[in-house]
Formats: sequence, structure tokens, C-alpha cells
Amino acid sequence: MSSIRFDAVHKAFGALTVLRSLDLDIPDRTFLALLGPSGCGKTTALRMLAGLEMPTAGRLLIGDRDVTRLQPRDRDIAMVFQSYALYPQMTVAENIGYPLWIRKVPDAERRAKIAEVATTLEIETLLERRPKQLSGGQRQRVALARAIVRNPAAFLMDEPLSNLDARLRLSMRGEIKRLCQSLGAKTLYVTHDQAEALTMADLIAVMNGGALQQLASPAGIYERPANRFVATFVGNPPMNVLPATVTEAGLSVAGTPIALPEDRLAECRRYQVTEIGLRPEDAHVVAQGTPGALAGAIFVVEPMGNETLVDVRVEGGRLTVRAERGFSANPGDRVGIAFDPANACFFDPMGKTVVHRV
Ligand SMILES: Nc1ncnc2c1ncn2[C@@H]1O[C@H](COP(=O)(O)OP(=O)(O)O)[C@@H](O)[C@H]1O
Ligand SMILES: [Mg+2]
Repeated sequence: MSSIRFDAVHKAFGALTVLRSLDLDIPDRTFLALLGPSGCGKTTALRMLAGLEMPTAGRLLIGDRDVTRLQPRDRDIAMVFQSYALYPQMTVAENIGYPLWIRKVPDAERRAKIAEVATTLEIETLLERRPKQLSGGQRQRVALARAIVRNPAAFLMDEPLSNLDARLRLSMRGEIKRLCQSLGAKTLYVTHDQAEALTMADLIAVMNGGALQQLASPAGIYERPANRFVATFVGNPPMNVLPATVTEAGLSVAGTPIALPEDRLAECRRYQVTEIGLRPEDAHVVAQGTPGALAGAIFVVEPMGNETLVDVRVEGGRLTVRAERGFSANPGDRVGIAFDPANACFFDPMGKTVVHRV
């Protein structure tokens, strides 16, 4: 089997540039999440790969085949749309079997295949219904069944869970991951939901403004974000970013000198660091006046059940800290915020991560 490649793919709609020279390599048997905010060009990238849209420049390759100019049906990929796109007048069985029917697969073989995927997706009792007689989750399963029925070389999924309620979204997340693992096909999964990307993907491609920001494993994206955009887009609550000053005397954050090992301090100086990034779980509320802690005041306390999110105002900004379940404090209380600077990363004036977490 073979990889999928975007080779310097560029896309403009008239004067609007939507994708800027996208290079992306999706290895075989890989679940890749294309993650980014609404409007960053994810759907357009997927539609070009499916053959529903032509690139303005660049090439699309499946294995060594240049598919840039091939018809959608000749690309051997299946797409699952956000809207499911089921045929309302057809039964579930007919919807699932449709890709086989247009390929003139003999009746008996088609029926056997429909029964097999219906069992995999646990919709075998729904085969005679029509889409309007199904719940959102059941429609989603039918759309997935239709995609997997003919063993395509790759699955493309565009925000397939976004029309489901929160609870169902969580359970389908795990099911789609399992399904894709068991099928062993390449999957390109588009989402704006960082939790979906982190939990489901082998690789995450983070996009913003039509440009690829970083391609890495979920752990790589979370632990070593390439820039401030990735650092603050992935993670919930997002990474805190505060102004940082580096002088001959050392590093200072929110008016507090922070001790750094000499080599890390030298790196901060060399790259003219202007900001520090700190994840909420790497900061702790401590007593006011604790040495090395930032001086702050409680802004708001949000109990989440299993943990508590605490928003604290410090000089020059605000940060969110994860505290334990049952934590309590009042707005305005003076506190300290302690952290191990080894867990922080540092950004240059362009927002590039120049010093990573140790
Ligand atoms: N057919 C089209 N004609 C003109 N502009 C389009 C078309 N399709 C998408 N766009 C624009 O391209 C940008 C990216 O869209 P899209 O790929 O759908 O983003 P995403 O899926 O990341 O939300 C948006 O600004 C959108 O309005
Ligand atoms: Mg989209």
C-alpha cells in the first residue's frame, strides 16, 4: 500500500487564497487529523484530495500515482461528510450498497458485503429503514458503513461527529478510532476540535490561515508546540502565555525574577524571548509571598467536578491554573502562582517556540 501526498498544493478562489503551498505526507495505515479553526482551509484540502475541487497549483499523489486530474471515482477513496449525505429515498441497505452497485458488483456479493459492514457497525436491524427514520448517531453509522463497504485505499472524513450531541460524540470518537485501526486504512480526518485530534490521531497536522503550522504526533504537538498558535490551539484550557523579559540580570515574568539554568537563560537571550508559555496543569496556586512564585489575585474559580480551574490575575496578564477537586478561594484573594520553569516554553517576537519544555 501507499502513502498520500500533498505536494506544494495551492488553492485560491478568485482573489481569496485558501491554501498556501501545502506539503503533507500521510504514511500508510496512519490516522491523520487535519486540525484548525473554522475557515483555515481543511475542507478545501479534503475536497481536493477527493477530486471535488481542483488545486490552483501543486500535485496530489496516492502512492506514485499523480491523481491531481483524475475523476473522484478513479481515486479509490471514500469520503464521509459532515452532513452524512445519505440518499433519502433509499433504504439503509441501498445506501450502504450504493458504491458497490455503481461499480456493478454482483447482487449476491453486494448483499453479503452489506450484511458484513452492517454487523461491524451494529446497524443490522436498521437495513430496511430510510434515513429519516434514523437518529443522528444511526445516520452517522450508515454513512461510515457506506464508506468502508468497498475497502477504499483511504477514508476522508470531514467533521463527521459535529452534528451529534456531546455524549454520542465521545462514544463515536472511540468507535471510529477502533474501526479505522481494525481496517488498517489511511484516514484523513478533518476537525476543528483539538480533543478529537488528540484522542484519535496517530499524526496531527495543525493548520491556520491556509498554512500548515506543525505536523507531529499528538504528544509532540502537546509537549513541543512549534509556535504560539499551536501551543494555544491545542490543550483545554489553552496554554497560558505571559510577557517575559530577558535581561543581563536574568528572566522576569509578571514582575517576578525566575531562576533558569544558565544554558536555558542563554538560549532565551539569544532568541530574544518575549513570552513564556505555561500549561494550566504546570502551574499551582500557593500562598502569597512564596519565594519564586508570581504574585497574583484570584479572578474566578470554576469547579469542574474532578478538578477546579482557577483564573488568576498577575502583572501583565491572566492565567488559568488547574487545581485539585474541592479547591476553594474568593475573588480578590492574594495568592502566589508557582511553577517549575523546566515545564515552560518560550516564544520569540514572531511567536515561534525557541526554547521548549525540558
Ligand atoms: N467554493 C468556494 N468559493 C469561494 N470561497 C470558498 C469556497 N469554498 C471555500 N471557500 C472559502 O475558503 C475558506 C476555507 O474554507 P474551508 O476549506 O471550508 O475551511 P474549513 O473547512 O477549515 O472551515 C473560507 O474562507 C471559505 O469561505
Ligand atoms: Mg470545513
